[in-house]
Amino acid sequence: MNQLDHAVALLRQGELVAIPTETVYGLAADAANPNAVAKIFALKGRPSDHPLIVHIAGTEQLDDWAVDIPADARRLAEAFWPGPLTLILKRHPRVPDAVTGGQDTVGLRAPAHPLAHALLTQFGGGLAAPSANRFGHVSPTTAQHVLDEFGESCPLVLDGGASPVGVESTIVSLIDDTPKLLRPGGIAREAIEAVLGHELEHHESNKTAKIRASGLLDSHYAPRTPLILGPLPQLLEEAGRRLADGERVLLLHRTAITASIDGITQHTLAQTAQQFASELYALLRQHDRQYDILLMETPPSSPEWLAVNDRLKRAATRRLP
Ligand code: TXA
Ligand code: MG
Repeated sequence: MNQLDHAVALLRQGELVAIPTETVYGLAADAANPNAVAKIFALKGRPSDHPLIVHIAGTEQLDDWAVDIPADARRLAEAFWPGPLTLILKRHPRVPDAVTGGQDTVGLRAPAHPLAHALLTQFGGGLAAPSANRFGHVSPTTAQHVLDEFGESCPLVLDGGASPVGVESTIVSLIDDTPKLLRPGGIAREAIEAVLGHELEHHESNKTAKIRASGLLDSHYAPRTPLILGPLPQLLEEAGRRLADGERVLLLHRTAITASIDGITQHTLAQTAQQFASELYALLRQHDRQYDILLMETPPSSPEWLAVNDRLKRAATRRLP
């Protein structure tokens, strides 16, 4: 049996399969099977009231999972699916409570990764899938990351190579009159605004009782080794002090440094936001627990860096002014 047939067979039996997507790897189960979905929460250690995204093959399946779909939602799906955009819509009665955390809404996304798309097409149904990491860990962007997280406890990890986008999907809620950006991600806010023809409200707060999005918890995406963000000159001072105290320091910088500093390991970060995003989680995983402190130069604040800055803000323990 080939990998795809094996994956479909496991999913039909109510088992979990880790799948590659263009954003990060997901831990998938048959979205119509509450017992299968329960296994996701058990393996991740995720609180059961955190809703999961249902992954579908494309726009033709929108009406299977949502009702009262506004024209804006269809427009966005037409424009960006398959791709890294998740739409929050009113749930169809068939969506199990296990998927939505009991909320009356559902998150839907059609991933662009060819393997995920082929799997969804062959499976025919929807796949509930959060990022394939234990609750609160950094999201996985390779099959090896998933194996590092779960080992043998996940029956199958489909290897589709490194996830090219590297940060999670953009989440837009279309529940009330004005569409809202709940999580910046793989699709730029400006691109969505261009399709909508107006600005998108950004809901930064995780205190909104009605919207429970675990990616909005501040502790998310955090490596175990503390991460400090700051401008390069301040980081160099911090590095010097810590080095004098005998700490193992990793300096992650974008700006060129002419002289290397004795005793400090340096890593040059990608120049473009896209490349930076695609490397970010792998970097955090690779260097976690290898140093006493990670010092990272704050990226630019221009729009294309929105998703990266959002994840870094949550990953960082401190930010130097
Ligand atoms: O790129 C992605 O979105 C990846 C890949 C695997 O598709 N998935 C992902 O899933 O990041 P997860 O579970 O790690 O994050 C999904 C976010 C969570 O913050 C969740 O609370 C939110 O989406 N979410 C899901 N359904 C929701 C709903 N009905 N209302 C509000 N937020 C929702
Ligand atoms: Mg996640």
